[in-house]
Amino acid sequence: MNKLCLLGLVVGLASQSVMAETNATLLHNKNAFIANLMKQMTLDEKIGQLRLISIGPEMPQPQILKEIAAGRIGGTFNSITRSENRPLQDAAVAHSRLKIPMFFAYDVIHGQRTIFPISLGLAASWDMDAIGLAGRISAIEATADSLDMTFAPMVDISRDPRWGRSSEGFGEDTYLVSRIAKVMTNSFNGQHPGGADSLMPIVKHFALYGAVEGGKDYNSVDMSPTRMYQDYLPPYRASLDAGAGGVMIALNAVNGVPATANTWLLKDLLRKEWGFKGVTISDHGAIKELIRHGVARDDREAAKLAIKAGVDMSMNDKVYGEQLPALLKDGEIAQQDIDNAVREVLGAKYDMGLFADPYRRIGAAAQDPQDTYADSLLHRPQAREVARKTLVLLKNDNQTLPLKKQGTIAVVGALAKSHLDMLGSWSAAGVPNQTVTVFEGLTNAVGNKAKLIYARGANVSDDPKILEYLNFMITEVEVDPRPAQEMIDEAVKAAQQADVVVAVVGESRGMSHESASRTTLNLPGRQRDLIAALKATGKPLVLVLMNGRPLTLVKEQQQADAMLETWFPGTEGGNAVADVLFGDYNPSGKLAMSFPRSIGQLPVYYAHFGTGRPYVPGKPGNYTSQYFEETNGPLFPFGFGLSYTQFSLSDVTLSNDTLKRGGKLTASVTLKNSGKYDGETVVQLYLHDVAASISRPVKELKNFQKVMLKAGEEKVITFTLSEDDLKFYNSQLKYAAEPGVFDVMIGLDSQDVKQQSFSLL
Ligand code: BGC
Repeated sequence: MNKLCLLGLVVGLASQSVMAETNATLLHNKNAFIANLMKQMTLDEKIGQLRLISIGPEMPQPQILKEIAAGRIGGTFNSITRSENRPLQDAAVAHSRLKIPMFFAYDVIHGQRTIFPISLGLAASWDMDAIGLAGRISAIEATADSLDMTFAPMVDISRDPRWGRSSEGFGEDTYLVSRIAKVMTNSFNGQHPGGADSLMPIVKHFALYGAVEGGKDYNSVDMSPTRMYQDYLPPYRASLDAGAGGVMIALNAVNGVPATANTWLLKDLLRKEWGFKGVTISDHGAIKELIRHGVARDDREAAKLAIKAGVDMSMNDKVYGEQLPALLKDGEIAQQDIDNAVREVLGAKYDMGLFADPYRRIGAAAQDPQDTYADSLLHRPQAREVARKTLVLLKNDNQTLPLKKQGTIAVVGALAKSHLDMLGSWSAAGVPNQTVTVFEGLTNAVGNKAKLIYARGANVSDDPKILEYLNFMITEVEVDPRPAQEMIDEAVKAAQQADVVVAVVGESRGMSHESASRTTLNLPGRQRDLIAALKATGKPLVLVLMNGRPLTLVKEQQQADAMLETWFPGTEGGNAVADVLFGDYNPSGKLAMSFPRSIGQLPVYYAHFGTGRPYVPGKPGNYTSQYFEETNGPLFPFGFGLSYTQFSLSDVTLSNDTLKRGGKLTASVTLKNSGKYDGETVVQLYLHDVAASISRPVKELKNFQKVMLKAGEEKVITFTLSEDDLKFYNSQLKYAAEPGVFDVMIGLDSQDVKQQSFSLL
């Protein structure tokens, strides 16, 4: 080692120890501050801190102000402007005895005012910078609105598209979701959790919510420990390791014990095994729900189970306030149980910088924007930039796309002109009228170069029961009362006059939401009849899909000449879709969830286990693991997405055929853009442990690179592998790599891969 290096090392070590010392001092100061404050708190004030409530009809503002001043509320959610939250903070810091500041939370999932594509769409970008940008802008806008905390990232692995909340997460894959969990957490946190534009991330829903039985929302989860540790828990851990300030507890039971009463989950795993220091928050009304889960007799027992399990804050129910004092008096819970929870709530407030300045994010009234909803406050260019990266080209025969900006284009479909649906589920403070619809995006793009004609074609649903369900709060799904056939005929007429048909079809946003599980994954309503009628015109047919989950699209894939999956693409969605349809942006998205052929195939996910009788493509299927009525495998696999250009991959070259523990091995491929457009694609690396102590998935994503190549360009893409990439949880839940042979597979999707093998010594 030369002198310079040595000096660098010494300086590095010294600065690390200074940092460690500073961190220790900061932690000491925080603990001392909180201990001192807690000494002054009455029992009622302590319990008040554990209450997180939503302003609504049951809790109108005058009452809330009184409760805050009495020290009976720790934080609120769903009040989302500076002028709404300022008086609440005034009530806490000017009128409550100990002046403990409030915090203000909200579900900022994929944007606050500027709405980015839904999370499943963001995941399809496989672009960590784009996802980070969406997270950072969300935090900037939310904190400018006075918010301190978001109930995000939502990192539940979802492998069952019947579950409506698939839209809200980042898909089926543990590695991809964990990478995104880290990026989202960092981008919400910003430079430092206490910063004025830092939004405290509360990762959710802990744990396993995405695995609800049958994809039915709120259902229970029963899962083997190895699968839990290997596949479902890592994304939560990744977010916590990246600095999430808290955890929202899932509504489901985990192996028989509701998460809200699950001491193993909240204490043994979260606190002891993972060393988590931060606040745990129940989901909405979840403590009281312990009664209906069948583990608590009454409110009293529910409160006892929750506080003992380690639920610090209770969201929107009164049981802590009503039950904890008597439980303590009767010796059924200890003072320590309450104090532990209070310490974490105060700790979160401390970390958010609220004791230093309760108005850090509320600011001064004089600086409030004149119009919180002003368009000038949006981040439109960034929303468009991110949205176009999330669109996935599923089919493109005969170079139907990109379209030319000429001639006549028939635009068909109720969703083509729907502002509300562009926002997707959990759209925070997004305003429908500020979104650009697909029709508007196409209009902006063609100017006067081409003629657009529009026909509605079909309602997204005509079923009165479904409409009643979806429209129970606001009119989510608009219905054109004309007879269905009349609308289809009108669309056919429009198609006949056009050179190409762009049909925008899919789900309404409310169909892919909380409490929106489905038993079919078809295009709803008469949209399938509409597509058949459009196909019959013989005009080139482009399907623009809007949906928040994988759908079953076997027939549509045969009928369409081109298909573009656009999810619910957000504020600038229409412009982003137009960018891709006209080739102003070459699509680069890849699916983050497999698209099944039929509902009976579920679950369909790429990282499934092998069986003793695997189905082998091209061979007779008898006595192999498959369904005899259905083509094997998904319609569109995980990681799949086309481009306007053609990419090809060479065989895989390994630097060595053995890997030593502690050593490294590289796997390289040459990626070539042999088409005529510049473009980006995602090179994906999968591993398979050929013979281990327990059966391992047929392949698992372990790394990827998103690569931009000019037309004709080629590039060597190299991945470095180490022992860590080979580790898994064995039947004793020991995380280790076992010696033996590993297949390394590299591809542009999870199915079509090039393979090599090496051994771990
Ligand atoms: C959802 C949570 C959400 C909470 C607050 C619940 O119904 O399950 O994800 O954070 O409401 O809005």
